[in-house]
Amino acid sequence: MNDKSTSVEIGSLKDKEKIKILFVCLGNICRSPAAQGVMQRLVDERGLSSRYELDSCGFYGGHAGDLPDKRMRVHASRRGYDLTHRSRVLRPWDFDDFDLIVGMDDRNISDLLEAAPSADAQRKVVRMIDFARCHPYQDCVPDPYYDGAQGFELVLDLLEDACAGLFDEIEK
Ligand code: 4NP
Repeated sequence: MNDKSTSVEIGSLKDKEKIKILFVCLGNICRSPAAQGVMQRLVDERGLSSRYELDSCGFYGGHAGDLPDKRMRVHASRRGYDLTHRSRVLRPWDFDDFDLIVGMDDRNISDLLEAAPSADAQRKVVRMIDFARCHPYQDCVPDPYYDGAQGFELVLDLLEDACAGLFDEIEK
Protein backbone atom coordinates (compact mmCIF):
# COMPACT_ATOMS: atom_id res chain seq x y z
CA MET A 1 0.00 0.00 0.00
CA ASN A 2 1.27 3.43 -0.89
CA ASP A 3 1.56 5.85 2.02
CA LYS A 4 0.28 9.25 0.81
CA SER A 5 2.94 11.05 2.86
CA THR A 6 5.64 9.50 0.68
CA SER A 7 3.84 10.41 -2.55
CA VAL A 8 4.49 13.32 -4.85
CA GLU A 9 3.13 16.60 -3.43
CA ILE A 10 -0.13 16.87 -5.38
CA GLY A 11 -0.51 20.62 -4.79
CA SER A 12 2.91 21.27 -6.35
CA LEU A 13 1.69 19.95 -9.71
CA LYS A 14 -0.23 23.21 -10.13
CA ASP A 15 3.07 25.01 -10.74
CA LYS A 16 3.82 22.94 -13.81
CA GLU A 17 3.07 24.25 -17.28
CA LYS A 18 1.41 20.95 -18.17
CA ILE A 19 0.04 18.39 -15.72
CA LYS A 20 0.32 14.84 -17.04
CA ILE A 21 -1.78 12.14 -15.41
CA LEU A 22 -1.89 8.44 -16.28
CA PHE A 23 -4.78 6.29 -15.01
CA VAL A 24 -4.00 2.60 -14.65
CA CYS A 25 -6.06 -0.59 -14.18
CA LEU A 26 -5.72 -4.19 -15.31
CA GLY A 27 -7.27 -4.38 -18.79
CA ASN A 28 -7.50 -0.65 -19.67
CA ILE A 29 -11.01 -1.24 -21.03
CA CYS A 30 -13.21 -0.47 -17.99
CA ARG A 31 -11.94 1.59 -15.03
CA SER A 32 -8.93 3.53 -16.28
CA PRO A 33 -10.40 4.73 -19.62
CA ALA A 34 -13.51 5.76 -17.67
CA ALA A 35 -11.32 7.66 -15.17
CA GLN A 36 -9.61 9.37 -18.09
CA GLY A 37 -13.00 10.37 -19.56
CA VAL A 38 -14.38 11.62 -16.24
CA MET A 39 -11.25 13.68 -15.53
CA GLN A 40 -11.16 15.02 -19.10
CA ARG A 41 -14.68 16.38 -18.74
CA LEU A 42 -13.84 18.05 -15.42
CA VAL A 43 -10.81 19.69 -16.98
CA ASP A 44 -12.71 20.73 -20.12
CA GLU A 45 -15.62 22.19 -18.11
CA ARG A 46 -13.19 24.41 -16.23
CA GLY A 47 -11.47 25.59 -19.40
CA LEU A 48 -8.18 23.89 -18.47
CA SER A 49 -7.89 21.42 -21.37
CA SER A 50 -4.56 22.82 -22.54
CA ARG A 51 -3.06 22.50 -19.05
CA TYR A 52 -3.76 18.80 -18.65
CA GLU A 53 -2.59 15.76 -20.57
CA LEU A 54 -4.53 12.63 -19.62
CA ASP A 55 -3.99 9.04 -20.68
CA SER A 56 -4.69 5.54 -19.39
CA CYS A 57 -3.21 2.06 -19.68
CA GLY A 58 -3.30 -1.42 -18.16
CA PHE A 59 -1.07 -4.33 -17.27
CA TYR A 60 -2.87 -7.02 -19.28
CA GLY A 61 -2.34 -6.67 -23.04
CA GLY A 62 -5.18 -8.94 -24.18
CA HIS A 63 -7.36 -5.98 -25.17
CA ALA A 64 -4.61 -3.80 -26.67
CA GLY A 65 -6.00 -1.55 -29.40
CA ASP A 66 -9.62 -2.08 -28.31
CA LEU A 67 -12.16 0.56 -27.39
CA PRO A 68 -13.42 0.41 -23.80
CA ASP A 69 -15.72 -2.50 -22.93
CA LYS A 70 -19.18 -2.00 -24.49
CA ARG A 71 -20.86 -2.12 -21.06
CA MET A 72 -18.55 0.60 -19.76
CA ARG A 73 -19.26 2.74 -22.81
CA VAL A 74 -23.02 2.31 -22.45
CA HIS A 75 -23.06 3.22 -18.76
CA ALA A 76 -20.66 6.12 -19.30
CA SER A 77 -22.63 7.48 -22.25
CA ARG A 78 -25.75 7.70 -20.07
CA ARG A 79 -23.80 10.20 -17.98
CA GLY A 80 -22.59 12.04 -21.07
CA TYR A 81 -19.11 10.54 -21.42
CA ASP A 82 -17.89 9.41 -24.84
CA LEU A 83 -15.06 6.95 -24.15
CA THR A 84 -12.84 6.65 -27.24
CA HIS A 85 -9.50 5.63 -25.71
CA ARG A 86 -7.76 2.58 -27.23
CA SER A 87 -6.37 0.09 -24.73
CA ARG A 88 -2.62 -0.12 -24.29
CA VAL A 89 -0.20 -1.63 -21.78
CA LEU A 90 2.03 0.29 -19.37
CA ARG A 91 5.35 1.31 -20.95
CA PRO A 92 8.60 1.71 -18.96
CA TRP A 93 8.91 5.34 -20.04
CA ASP A 94 5.41 6.20 -18.73
CA PHE A 95 7.10 6.80 -15.39
CA ASP A 96 9.15 9.58 -17.00
CA ASP A 97 6.38 10.95 -19.19
CA PHE A 98 3.73 11.41 -16.47
CA ASP A 99 3.68 13.44 -13.25
CA LEU A 100 1.07 11.30 -11.52
CA ILE A 101 0.20 7.63 -12.00
CA VAL A 102 -3.17 6.68 -10.55
CA GLY A 103 -4.00 3.03 -9.81
CA MET A 104 -7.52 1.71 -9.24
CA ASP A 105 -6.92 -1.09 -6.73
CA ASP A 106 -4.17 -2.47 -4.52
CA ARG A 107 -3.04 -4.97 -7.13
CA ASN A 108 -2.53 -2.12 -9.61
CA ILE A 109 -0.61 -0.20 -6.95
CA SER A 110 1.71 -3.07 -6.07
CA ASP A 111 2.28 -3.84 -9.78
CA LEU A 112 3.07 -0.15 -10.42
CA LEU A 113 5.46 0.07 -7.49
CA GLU A 114 7.21 -3.05 -8.74
CA ALA A 115 7.43 -1.72 -12.32
CA ALA A 116 8.66 1.75 -11.25
CA PRO A 117 12.34 2.17 -12.19
CA SER A 118 13.27 4.40 -9.24
CA ALA A 119 12.12 5.75 -5.90
CA ASP A 120 11.17 9.02 -7.63
CA ALA A 121 9.00 7.05 -10.04
CA GLN A 122 7.40 5.19 -7.13
CA ARG A 123 6.45 8.50 -5.53
CA LYS A 124 4.28 9.31 -8.56
CA VAL A 125 2.03 6.33 -7.81
CA VAL A 126 -1.23 7.10 -5.96
CA ARG A 127 -4.56 5.35 -5.34
CA MET A 128 -7.64 6.74 -7.07
CA ILE A 129 -9.88 5.95 -4.10
CA ASP A 130 -7.77 8.11 -1.76
CA PHE A 131 -9.22 11.19 -3.48
CA ALA A 132 -12.87 10.15 -3.06
CA ARG A 133 -14.75 12.25 -0.50
CA CYS A 134 -18.22 10.68 -0.55
CA HIS A 135 -17.36 6.96 -0.30
CA PRO A 136 -15.53 6.57 3.04
CA TYR A 137 -16.03 2.80 3.26
CA GLN A 138 -14.73 1.99 -0.22
CA ASP A 139 -11.07 0.87 -0.31
CA CYS A 140 -10.60 0.65 -4.09
CA VAL A 141 -12.27 1.17 -7.46
CA PRO A 142 -13.29 -2.47 -7.94
CA ASP A 143 -12.91 -4.42 -11.16
CA PRO A 144 -16.40 -4.52 -12.77
CA TYR A 145 -15.48 -6.94 -15.58
CA TYR A 146 -17.34 -9.95 -14.15
CA ASP A 147 -20.10 -7.86 -12.54
CA GLY A 148 -23.45 -6.67 -13.78
CA ALA A 149 -24.76 -3.17 -14.35
CA GLN A 150 -24.40 -2.24 -10.67
CA GLY A 151 -20.64 -2.78 -10.83
CA PHE A 152 -20.27 -0.36 -13.73
CA GLU A 153 -22.47 2.24 -12.05
CA LEU A 154 -20.43 1.93 -8.85
CA VAL A 155 -17.20 2.46 -10.81
CA LEU A 156 -18.61 5.63 -12.36
CA ASP A 157 -19.90 6.92 -8.99
CA LEU A 158 -16.46 6.34 -7.44
CA LEU A 159 -14.61 7.88 -10.37
CA GLU A 160 -16.77 11.01 -10.43
CA ASP A 161 -16.17 11.44 -6.70
CA ALA A 162 -12.43 10.68 -6.80
CA CYS A 163 -11.61 12.67 -9.96
CA ALA A 164 -13.32 15.73 -8.47
CA GLY A 165 -11.27 15.23 -5.30
CA LEU A 166 -8.04 14.83 -7.27
CA PHE A 167 -8.80 17.88 -9.42
CA ASP A 168 -9.56 20.02 -6.36
CA GLU A 169 -6.39 18.85 -4.62
CA ILE A 170 -4.28 19.84 -7.62
CA GLU A 171 -5.99 23.17 -8.25
CA LYS A 172 -6.69 24.32 -4.68
P1 4NP B 1 -10.33 -3.08 -16.12
O1 4NP B 1 -11.28 -4.39 -16.17
O2 4NP B 1 -9.04 -3.50 -15.46
O3 4NP B 1 -11.10 -2.11 -15.29
O4 4NP B 1 -10.13 -2.65 -17.56
C1 4NP B 1 -10.87 -5.60 -16.73
C2 4NP B 1 -10.94 -5.77 -18.10
C3 4NP B 1 -10.55 -6.99 -18.65
C4 4NP B 1 -10.11 -8.01 -17.84
C5 4NP B 1 -10.02 -7.81 -16.46
C6 4NP B 1 -10.40 -6.60 -15.92
N1 4NP B 1 -9.73 -9.26 -18.41
O5 4NP B 1 -9.34 -10.16 -17.66
O6 4NP B 1 -9.80 -9.42 -19.64
